[in-house]
Amino acid sequence: MHLPSQTTLDTLHNGFIQLHRPDADAIRAELSAGLLSPQACTSPKFLYDALGSKLFEAICELPEYYPTRTEAAIIEEYLPAIGRSVGRGCTLIDLGAGNCAKAARLFSTLQPVQYVPVDISVDFLRDAVGCLQQRFPHVKMTGIGMDFSGSLELPAAVRREKRLFFYPGSSIGNFMPQQAIEFLASMRDACGTDGGLLIGIDLIKDKAILDAAYDDALGVTASFNLNLLQHLNRLIGTDFNLRDWRHRGHFNPDLGRVEMHLEARRDLTVRWDDVERRFSEGERIHTESSYKYTREAFLSMLERAGFMPAGTWTDPHSWFMVCHARAA
Ligand code: AVI
Repeated sequence: MHLPSQTTLDTLHNGFIQLHRPDADAIRAELSAGLLSPQACTSPKFLYDALGSKLFEAICELPEYYPTRTEAAIIEEYLPAIGRSVGRGCTLIDLGAGNCAKAARLFSTLQPVQYVPVDISVDFLRDAVGCLQQRFPHVKMTGIGMDFSGSLELPAAVRREKRLFFYPGSSIGNFMPQQAIEFLASMRDACGTDGGLLIGIDLIKDKAILDAAYDDALGVTASFNLNLLQHLNRLIGTDFNLRDWRHRGHFNPDLGRVEMHLEARRDLTVRWDDVERRFSEGERIHTESSYKYTREAFLSMLERAGFMPAGTWTDPHSWFMVCHARAA
């Protein structure tokens, strides 16, 4: 089997492939650099330990968090049109597949030849893929455990023909715009000349709606954000006390993004290894950006990345957009 040189194959059995995971030293170096920089920051990927993933699932159920249900409603309403645009018999590559529920709704219409759910760990995928395989026994299923934010080079077990990347949930918004274009371009490279992309995009809207979506009344998003500190304590031995921090989430209209921060409630010092970082009361750690786009701005990003938009579908308020694009 041919594998890209920078990936190592850990396991391959029963249709599941686990590619290498980032090592503990690299994680420690990345986190330390972010925490020690003048504007402290951490990558949003650290929001997702086991509890963080469950809290994110709970966020998706909140009345204020419109993206998940709005995207689902668009896909349900326009599934026949999406099917006509994409065509049948693709290799469906589901990035950040989780429980595979979103992709499962496409199966009857798209009739993929191969389904490739990709997530950081194949352990998350195993049960979900098992259920899906019973419902669709003719579809070859190959689960891949990899951190696709670094590289999208897929193992040879993934069919090359008619690759369709499925990237729902507006996860592209968690990249900085330039990184988003680079990531789109890497999908373009990996999908070949007959491939494409089906992607969900959160659109710019009223600030009050965005502020509420990222600072909900129940405090689930606050817990999701604060849990990051617990995760860091476990990962690199920081001594964050969660009670010293408060969640901040708001839309920054100048930058077109929602920002999540953790704000120190008092002057304090955080220690790990042989270093320390002092925070003054009110000082913040930037934990996530979630960019929102206009339809036109996103379509032009797709074009810059080498895609040709083929179809766009939105909800009645134009809060969210689902877009199919073909390799240009
Ligand atoms: C995963 N991602 C698209 C979510 C978002 O809306 O940016 C993560 C999230 N952060 C807070 N709430 C949801």
